[in-house]
Amino acid sequence: MEFIHRKRIPFMQKDLRSFIDLIAGNNHLLTVEREVDPKFDIPAVMKAAEKTGKAILFKNVGKPGFRIINNLLGDRKMLALLFGTSQERVVVEWVKQVKNPVEPRIVGTGAVKEVIKKGKDVDLETLPIVTHCSKDAGPFITAGMVIAKDPETGIRNVSINRMQLKGQDKLGIRMMPPQHLGMIHEKSEKLGKNLEIAVAIGNHPYEILSAATSVDFGIDEFTLAGALHEDPLGLVKCETVDLEVPAYAEVVIEGEVLAGVREPEGPYGDFMQFYVPVMNNHVMKVKAITHRRDPIYQTIQAGSLEDTHILGLSREGIVYEAVSKVADVKAVCMVPTILNCMISIRKRSETEPRDVASAAFGAYSWLKYCVVVDHDVNVFDVSDVWWAMATRGRMDKAVLLKEEALGFPRDPFHIHQSKLGIDATAPLNQWDEFERKKVPGEEAIRLEDFVSSF
Ligand SMILES: Cc1cc2nc3c(=O)[nH]c(=O)nc-3n(C[C@H](O)[C@H](O)[C@H](O)COP(=O)(O)O)c2cc1C
Repeated sequence: MEFIHRKRIPFMQKDLRSFIDLIAGNNHLLTVEREVDPKFDIPAVMKAAEKTGKAILFKNVGKPGFRIINNLLGDRKMLALLFGTSQERVVVEWVKQVKNPVEPRIVGTGAVKEVIKKGKDVDLETLPIVTHCSKDAGPFITAGMVIAKDPETGIRNVSINRMQLKGQDKLGIRMMPPQHLGMIHEKSEKLGKNLEIAVAIGNHPYEILSAATSVDFGIDEFTLAGALHEDPLGLVKCETVDLEVPAYAEVVIEGEVLAGVREPEGPYGDFMQFYVPVMNNHVMKVKAITHRRDPIYQTIQAGSLEDTHILGLSREGIVYEAVSKVADVKAVCMVPTILNCMISIRKRSETEPRDVASAAFGAYSWLKYCVVVDHDVNVFDVSDVWWAMATRGRMDKAVLLKEEALGFPRDPFHIHQSKLGIDATAPLNQWDEFERKKVPGEEAIRLEDFVSSF
């Protein structure tokens, strides 16, 4: 047995637990005390919890010592809490903060080293890995930040990649160029080498959001996490690979992606909510697992609002910066998928909505629909945006259609290669007729001050 139990490491940096405390304190956390099965109960309960917009913490998941957290960022309100600002300003804060990257620092040890398992003691089956969908090939790790280094430059890359449980020390992993991890693996395979990776699960949302960005190749995403923390991210050295991982992660899996090996992986219910078919994908051989004594295992349902928020924030940032050059932008929102975008502006001229849609499409090629609304429309509420389209949109005049455009690349049926921009703003010279009615005091009212049960 190779378990090493150290004394609890004192808390030094914001971690997953500090964020859970923050959302719990703001009534955004549901907890489940009774025992639930990761295969049969958890996905359905998570799906039901998603509708409440709250995170959910399962305290008894049938895998001794482990808890499960899901839907951490399932509501914009949680993003607003994370950035300490309003829902609209989250993207502004993101754009501002990631412009000042902060290099991580290596620390001696961290809570993730409380339990260390190597060699024969490695058993992925001890983790509460969730089977999310009916036709999924099995349990998938979905909130793992994959850390690797470019074999030529030594520069670190961090990304999120799904991983299929395939055995006690074996995972399938989905990666491909132009995603940076795929590029790095390709380089290492050409050198005939396995690629060392570490997978950190249960991190502060700043780390997850940074890992999900698409920054230029050669930028270490942990420098963005440092920027968001306004503090260098504390990393500890791995046990069996030459990599560093967040000191306060809940669980870390260390190992190698094997060169020249591909195995069937999938099917898997992916972010578009369709099943991606079985593909020949890479294989990770696991060499060590380290974790906290009482770990919280994070899982993300692909295609959920949480998933969209994680993928969306940096992409909203890209669009926000581009459209701010042509209009006075109030808010940007990409839900329910990162293929569509809703933008509210304080319109100054009738041509602006088309310019905004054009700029958005130019900045982010995966975008398929872009709806531009006035500043009095809530872009975080899809039904409010539909209200604007129905009552203010003039489809004969104000539609921008681009055909044969660059779109989402995995497109066997050619359905993502055209774009539609919709102007759902009121005519400037008729604002009086299109002004929305208001109830006095409606913005400031607190329902809990009036109703007896809340
Ligand atoms: C929950 C979740 C799961 C993801 N799974 C995958 C995946 O399996 N494969 C993949 O290439 N990208 C996946 N992504 C997207 C990548 O993490 C994202 O594109 C990231 O920017 C890639 O970083 P990289 O270019 O540095 O490798 C996932 C994102 C999220 C939020």
